[in-house]
Amino acid sequence: MVYNPSDGTSRRFSVPVVQELAAQHLQSLPERYIRSEKERPNAFPIHHLDIPIIDMDMFWGDSDLCRQKELEKLGMACQEWGFFQVAKMNHGIPLSLTERMKGIVREFIQLPLEEKLKYKIQELEGYGQAFVISDDQILDWADMMSLTTLPPENRNMDFWPTKPVDFRETVDQYALEIQKLSNTILFLLSENVGLTPDCFLNMCGKMRQRMRLNYYPPCPRPDLVLGISPHSDGFALTVLLQDDEIVGLQICKDGEWIPVQPIPGSLVINIGDMLEVISNGIYKSIEHRAVTNLDRDRISIAMFYGPNIEIEVGPAPELTDELHPCQYKRFIQADYVQHVFSGKLDGKKNLEFAKI
Ligand code: OGA
Ligand code: NI
Repeated sequence: MVYNPSDGTSRRFSVPVVQELAAQHLQSLPERYIRSEKERPNAFPIHHLDIPIIDMDMFWGDSDLCRQKELEKLGMACQEWGFFQVAKMNHGIPLSLTERMKGIVREFIQLPLEEKLKYKIQELEGYGQAFVISDDQILDWADMMSLTTLPPENRNMDFWPTKPVDFRETVDQYALEIQKLSNTILFLLSENVGLTPDCFLNMCGKMRQRMRLNYYPPCPRPDLVLGISPHSDGFALTVLLQDDEIVGLQICKDGEWIPVQPIPGSLVINIGDMLEVISNGIYKSIEHRAVTNLDRDRISIAMFYGPNIEIEVGPAPELTDELHPCQYKRFIQADYVQHVFSGKLDGKKNLEFAKI
């Protein structure tokens, strides 16, 4: 089934709703989803390693020594992995809220297609794929819903579903809780490189937050497709909430793909391109992708947090000197956003824009 652009879900190109394709129990996969051999999930060996786990209690407890050790661990995680997990109950977000978030996402997904298409993507917000730039591009096996969540005055409520009835209220609460956690992490990462804790946040102006709901339907040939193409995230920090049991996210470390084993109740946090720029490359945004499963669908909720659109972004001057030359130019955030959304997801290619 292919929708035409006027009632489909793509901004510019007609893109099927993958959930509808999956429901047809196709014998063979449509060509547009089949990856070239070298892009397929098993093209390179999959390496099983545990990504670092950070214990936020260490930052909120009384022991200076424990705090210092955990700060060093956090710093290393962000330099060498660009990814870490915050284990259950440690991130400060009530389990009841993360469970409700997953619940409203599942309820939204199960609504009839015509209900979801009331929020079909226009420009950067709504239900549908934002990174389709040509009619022959290989597509991701996923449906998405993107919303601006903060600052509140930038929300476009036309795209905020009214069903399920507690969608708006739950997302509002979740957005604010994730903002608190993201601020704490940015404080710690700023302190860890010898800057004042508020330095990174101050460089970003009034912070923006966007939410992306990802839905990966079951796929008859998970060996041939990707749920989301390899990419790095464009904001400063991403907080990802995912299904408790179903593995899908993989990160690229030293040229190998490593699956992120979900830990029930935990959150996955990763460095985005803007934090790589602001930290002059000390912290790394890491390429990642998602694979799909044969029998099970998977949801994830990504909260992206980064500089205001009007801010001129560039490396912190304190982090550049003769030994550490400035690696990135200064640019207006809005120009980066435009650059990102005029292309498809393609590894860390977007960051070339910022390189000197
Ligand atoms: C993203 C992303 C991974 C996942 O939305 O940017 O990388 O596991 N998602 O859904
Ligand atoms: Ni991502």
